[in-house]
Amino acid sequence: MIKNDLFLRALKGETVDRPPVWMMRQAGRYLPEFMELKKKYDFFTRCQKPELASEITVQPIRRYGMDAAILFSDILVIPQAMNIEVEMKPDFGPYLPNPIRNLNDVNNVIIPDVNDALGYVMEGIKATKEKLNNEVPLIGFAGSPWTILCYCVQGQGSKNFDKAKEFCFTNPVAAHTLLQKITDTTIAYLKAKVAAGVNAVQIFDSWGGMLSPVDYQEFSWQYINQIIEALKDDAPVIAFGKGCWFALDEMSKSNASALGVDWTITAKNARYLTGGNITLQGNFDPTRLFSPPAEIKKMVTQMINEFGKDKYIVNLGHGILPNVPLDNAKAFIDAVKEYNA
Ligand code: CP3
Repeated sequence: MIKNDLFLRALKGETVDRPPVWMMRQAGRYLPEFMELKKKYDFFTRCQKPELASEITVQPIRRYGMDAAILFSDILVIPQAMNIEVEMKPDFGPYLPNPIRNLNDVNNVIIPDVNDALGYVMEGIKATKEKLNNEVPLIGFAGSPWTILCYCVQGQGSKNFDKAKEFCFTNPVAAHTLLQKITDTTIAYLKAKVAAGVNAVQIFDSWGGMLSPVDYQEFSWQYINQIIEALKDDAPVIAFGKGCWFALDEMSKSNASALGVDWTITAKNARYLTGGNITLQGNFDPTRLFSPPAEIKKMVTQMINEFGKDKYIVNLGHGILPNVPLDNAKAFIDAVKEYNA
């Protein structure tokens, strides 16, 4: 039994005194205690050592007391496990030296035994559960198949993922074969994470908004929906699509327990497009955490009033930025805890 189950209750749509709060990318980005570990260990070592991954996961909980923890890891451990080389270059980000560009490349991609290839993630989850001591729930995550394809084909981050889109539009058979392989791996991976102890899972479709509404259905949503259908009886699923407000109507008809929204949509419009029944998560502009703490608190209270305290999870509209002042992050969390309906 989890002592603070606000987050899980909001995912079920239950009535609560105040909404739960956590921040996307809260683990391992901005805290000084994390920076100490970052100096000593490279990125994938931090992901692979259960002692480090679990420590980084609980650091923000100790400091701020969010209502949920998110496991420290990365969405790119999936392509790595599928035999695609992934490096994390300091001050550059992900770099894949051998990007996928044709059907032959796709055929060389394997569907791994996740407990084998990603056993270290499961060990990280077990270590984290011990440290959390059932105080708050633990979230596991994966990238959406489309967002993973973006990196596999582009080979690095991009403003428009033009090479990834070109690949899909010129070689749809290869693209769909790759998307299905990623989907199958992701389903097995998330099921193993739930078996290892995570209480909910979030799918990050960080680059879904790069696609037109029609292409989004074909190259992103149908695969996310396969994952939701496969996981729905194992754990609550949150689907976060950056820039995907155009698909909210369709997403709200799925078996996701909650939908994540970014700051380019009003609460009123998000509620309208989703029919008012599904739990929503979001949507504070991460850059707004640079406003003075008093202003952040005011804006957060207003955001809760607009979404409503029920069927709502307070979050940012995308990941927290690395240079946010500690007191500003604290103001964001405290404003939610101090909320009075
Ligand atoms: O709360 C958390 O931070 C949990 C761990 C987490 C990381 N990545 C750690 C990380 C999560 C949830 C992610 C998700 C992720 N990774 C996404 C989806 C969410 C989003 O922000 O859109 C994406 C697109 C990635 C791919 C990725 N990994 C990029 C683009 C980068 C470089 C830029 C950056 O700092 O985000 C990474 C590296 C990465 N992943 C770091 C961390 C803490 C920074 C590198 C380092 O610590 O050495």
